[in-house]
Amino acid sequence: MTFTLGSLAASRGYRLVTFDAIGSTNAEALARARHSERGPVWFVTSEQTAGRGRRHRPWIAPRGNLASSILEVMPVAPSVAATLGFAAGLALETALRSLSVEAALRSPEALQFRLKWPNDVLAGRHKLAGILLEAEAVGDSLAVVVGIGTNVVAAPEGTPTPATSLRAIGMDIDAETLFAALSDGWAEFRGIWDQGRGFAEIRRLWLERAAGLGQAVAIKTGGAAIEGTFDTIDEQGCMIVRTAAGKIVPITAGDVYFGSAASLGTS
Ligand code: BTN
Repeated sequence: MTFTLGSLAASRGYRLVTFDAIGSTNAEALARARHSERGPVWFVTSEQTAGRGRRHRPWIAPRGNLASSILEVMPVAPSVAATLGFAAGLALETALRSLSVEAALRSPEALQFRLKWPNDVLAGRHKLAGILLEAEAVGDSLAVVVGIGTNVVAAPEGTPTPATSLRAIGMDIDAETLFAALSDGWAEFRGIWDQGRGFAEIRRLWLERAAGLGQAVAIKTGGAAIEGTFDTIDEQGCMIVRTAAGKIVPITAGDVYFGSAASLGTS
């Protein structure tokens, strides 16, 4: 099978560049933006050998997983572009949900997709997918790359948040099928996001699918840890944590741990 765009994505003018294998689809997208590519275009592979994750972690996709990056160039501030990660989470969650109906008959876990701040997609309590946003100025605009890595056939071991794959939860679909649905999901939620003007609606939809709302949470940023209750996300996409002392703390970045892992401060 080969990668193809979904019908909505194709009708909205998205293009597609595929690779049998590549180091990093995010790196490729940024390199092309430096050489005048203006998108919107997807870079997709089912084998990524030098992928990049959040907080400078590696993200290797063994053959059969999905590594996909969308490049869009737009006249927005980096802080606005950062909120596209929430649209990407919604796009993937919607794609997974649309494909999971049949699989749900075999695996009760298949429908339990949740969005974890800032940019993960969970299946049950396990990380199924991660999203990395990168951006560079090009002229007066910003080249924004949203990289989405999904564990289709295999998940890494020993990660800070335990990981899983679609195969492990009984969802027997391939990377090509998932990508077509993801590209349509992106076209839908990127449209709602609308250069950031629609973030209020994206935020509302994201909160409906959020993991851990109202629960104990610990966020680790570098050496520091903040503990409290996950209240909401604000209009900029910051995680809002209420500490035991009643202080409201907006969080801009970090690794999030819920429940007992939050109080222990471990994964
Ligand atoms: C995370 O650490 O959770 C984010 C992982 C993002 C991985 C994706 S795979 C496609 C794209 N290319 C990369 O090099 N990284 C992103």
